[in-house]
Amino acid sequence: MTGLAIVTGGARGIGLAICNALLDQGVVDRVAAFDLQDELTEPNPAITLHRCDVTDEDSVRVAYAEVGEVPRVLVNNAGGGRIEMIDGSEGTQSAFDPFSDVDAFRDMVDLNFTSAHIVTRVIGPDLAEGAVICNTASIAGLMPGRLYAYGAAKAALIHWTRSMAQALAPQKIRVNAIAPGIIRTKLWEAMQPDDNAYDTMIKDIMPMQQDQSPEDIANAAAFLCSERASQVTGEVIRIDGGLTLR
Ligand SMILES: NC(=O)c1ccc[n+]([C@@H]2O[C@H](COP(=O)([O-])OP(=O)(O)OC[C@H]3O[C@@H](n4cnc5c(N)ncnc54)[C@H](O)[C@@H]3O)[C@@H](O)[C@H]2O)c1
Repeated sequence: MTGLAIVTGGARGIGLAICNALLDQGVVDRVAAFDLQDELTEPNPAITLHRCDVTDEDSVRVAYAEVGEVPRVLVNNAGGGRIEMIDGSEGTQSAFDPFSDVDAFRDMVDLNFTSAHIVTRVIGPDLAEGAVICNTASIAGLMPGRLYAYGAAKAALIHWTRSMAQALAPQKIRVNAIAPGIIRTKLWEAMQPDDNAYDTMIKDIMPMQQDQSPEDIANAAAFLCSERASQVTGEVIRIDGGLTLR
């Protein structure tokens, strides 16, 4: 299908895999990635990169003007943030501290929740009938855990996804979310740099003793953004190998 997708956080990791899946599966024929990074981790001529900070409305407006075209697909994927070592070695600033510094808490919510509102507020009013929004949440937003601000922000993103699906349904614009499990992108490399410890953790906690790949996550996003999901809205797909069944 022809058309444009805008994917935030599309320069690497899960976001880049989503860009590629949307193209490879024919959901769109070109993608604009909005990202803080200056270049794509793996260049692709069908993907243009627009440097922007999704927590900053002016920055998003500049990037959108640079694209100069209304997308058919919008993927609010940028997220993560300053999640330090899993042992909380950076002390009170740590994302694993239940009493973390207020600024650190706000930053986490800004990046993992408010940014989706900012980007959708800028681009959403232009979307036409048949357009699709997909938000990258997390299993951390579905079950309580030690990532306090991050989990709460992703839970808010899931709730907001459903409310937005309801709001935009009369315009035939679908809004869904994906909830990835554990994928060894830069996010997890920062949280657990030790490969052996990571592998042991995966074997311990994953029912199928395997983590997920960026492509596993991207396939679910591409499905939700495709015509095959034309009657799916307000849905959250977990891609977690059964982790949340525990
Ligand atoms: N990796 C996992 O295990 C996992 C699990 C569940 C959910 N997620 C979610 O998946 C999404 C992608 O994460 P990832 O694992 O690919 O991480 P990543 O760190 O590899 O990629 C995140 C991308 O977002 C960009 N980004 C970060 N802050 C930004 C900002 N303010 N403005 C614009 N771009 C920004 C980064 O430059 C990067 O390209 C995130 O929303 C994350 O919360 C990841």
